[in-house]
Amino acid sequence: MRSHYCGDVNETLEGKIVTVAGWMHRRRDHGGVIFIDLRDREGLVQVVCNPEDVESFAAAERVRSEYVLQIEGEVRRRPEGSDNEELKSGKIEIVATKLEILNSSETPPFPLNEQAEVSEDVRLRHRYIDLRRPEMLQKLRFRSQITSLLRSFLDINGFLDIETPILTKATPEGARDYLVPSRTHEGSFFALPQSPQLFKQLLMVSGMDRYYQVVRCFRDEDLRADRQPEFTQLDIETSFVEEEDLMVMMEEMIRNLFDKALGESLPNPFPRMTYQEAMNRFGSDKPDLRIDLELVDVNDLMKGVDFKVFSGPANDDKGRVAALRVPNGASLSRKEIDDYTKYVGIYGAKGLAYIKVNDINVGLAGLQSPILKFLPDDIVIEMMERVEAKTGDLVFFGADKSSIVNEALGALRVKLGHDLGLVSGNWQPLWVVAFPMFQWDEKSDRWTALHHPFTAPRKSDMALLDSDPGACLSRAYDMVLNGTELGGGSMRIHKAEVQTKVFELLGIDSEEANDKFGFLLDALKFGCPPHGGLAFGLDRLAMLMTGSSSIREVMAFPKTQSASCPLTNAPSAVDERQLKELNIRIRKSTKVLEGTAK
Ligand code: AMO
Ligand code: AMP
Repeated sequence: MRSHYCGDVNETLEGKIVTVAGWMHRRRDHGGVIFIDLRDREGLVQVVCNPEDVESFAAAERVRSEYVLQIEGEVRRRPEGSDNEELKSGKIEIVATKLEILNSSETPPFPLNEQAEVSEDVRLRHRYIDLRRPEMLQKLRFRSQITSLLRSFLDINGFLDIETPILTKATPEGARDYLVPSRTHEGSFFALPQSPQLFKQLLMVSGMDRYYQVVRCFRDEDLRADRQPEFTQLDIETSFVEEEDLMVMMEEMIRNLFDKALGESLPNPFPRMTYQEAMNRFGSDKPDLRIDLELVDVNDLMKGVDFKVFSGPANDDKGRVAALRVPNGASLSRKEIDDYTKYVGIYGAKGLAYIKVNDINVGLAGLQSPILKFLPDDIVIEMMERVEAKTGDLVFFGADKSSIVNEALGALRVKLGHDLGLVSGNWQPLWVVAFPMFQWDEKSDRWTALHHPFTAPRKSDMALLDSDPGACLSRAYDMVLNGTELGGGSMRIHKAEVQTKVFELLGIDSEEANDKFGFLLDALKFGCPPHGGLAFGLDRLAMLMTGSSSIREVMAFPKTQSASCPLTNAPSAVDERQLKELNIRIRKSTKVLEGTAK
């Protein structure tokens, strides 16, 4: 139906007859001549309809926004002075000789030919129109290019693309499962995979050696800008490797991607940082290294002070008192400091102490703070030296359980970085390594896996599984880019006894282990090779590479923050007959009864 895409018609086609097809983007009536900007995937082209061409002119008079048209005409140079530099086709126009309306359109719910503030709900409800916007199209096109480059790297390196089941059994990745009732097995459920973790390990037992898959994963968890209930991983697993081999290859893949897709060269090698160092210096296991602000421990200085807010956590094994120096922060207003105090409150911080450094050269007299009166002078001076305070700076302090201080000051560090323009450089990838195997969960009073239960302990730490699990480090690694966890993985446990021991430590007894993971334990007994892998969040990668603020912007049909789809209205009630077939009866929750459910 077309000879060229609209956006591809240019001056090289001058004098030629072309046929284009697309959507009516804009129409201008210029005293008898009608100009139509026709839009398709590749861009816009200007079409001129003259009244002498009676039929096409009459049709042009009838077209409205987003009508679908097919136009034939001759390409000609635009008259002197009317070039449009912003368009690929800006030097030419098509003089219509035939204009056919292929379809009409109702007035779109939001205009595509002008900038308009449109709520995300409306955009998602009419996503098929939203995706017509060039920036959305560009993002999906770019995402397609990312996938294609990653696939070709893996293909060249001998990875096999193998599909794994979607209707399966729960794999623990730390979120709730989406369940699917089985009709044929009354009362039984499939779980949608949170990741193909166990299947990819089984593929290694099978001898596939190098596996990858661009695969949908499902997690019923609290959503954020970089989390969706259904998202895509680039999932990878290899046999007979050590972490070094895998990390080197994966870095290479990401460097290759950035080079080919963006023309950006990432560092070679990526810097590496231990989990402990990342937490100490940045309060986060996914530090944004573009921001040159660091947390500094002042625990030792605060142990003996009278100010309980500080001495309490300083004397507690699980506590932390840390300082965050903000260069030129002394100019922050009272209101701004109050706002930051509120902000850290989101992360559980009970306050946010600060000292303003008006003049570092005059000692205490040059400092200004509500907490100075609670602290001995020599301690204050030592603290200022430790954080290398300079005139004009402001130093924030957090004191609480380490986890709260890290989260609060870690988030504050990033916020200040953005608010005060302290983000420098484009791309700062790194590997975070040497994660602990386990984390103590206060609520459930037991160890939980920091990654997942199939992650291998370091060979040298094996004995710690018995003596001191909390000190045992794992063979896990995360790839972090600009403060986002892009991907994570590990060398896996490949011996059944070790796997059984780790399950025990996690409070999974042998009955539960056999019930949930018996097939894995069995497989490990049949010649499982040493293996490891990782998975990248493809949506997150696309989000970062396109400079988008949310992964929803790089997904064609994302869900809302409340995990629903405004376009299809999913999830929705199903009819009684379907429920009966599945032997399911809905227990009405108070929410449903009160009509407040979604
Ligand atoms: P993990 O749970 O770390 O590891 O997931 C790997 C990567 O997937 C992305 N990701 C998400 N992206 C969008 N929305 C979500 N809800 C979401 N959850 C995770 C992140 C993350 O780094 N099986 C292991 C991998 C392995 O060990 O090989 C796993 O799934 O970018
Ligand atoms: P208060 O004695 O509670 O009025 O607090 C004195 C100062 O310490 C105020 O600036 C508070 O914001 C700050 N503060 C209180 N609790 C904490 C905390 N846990 N960490 C850091 N600063 C705090």
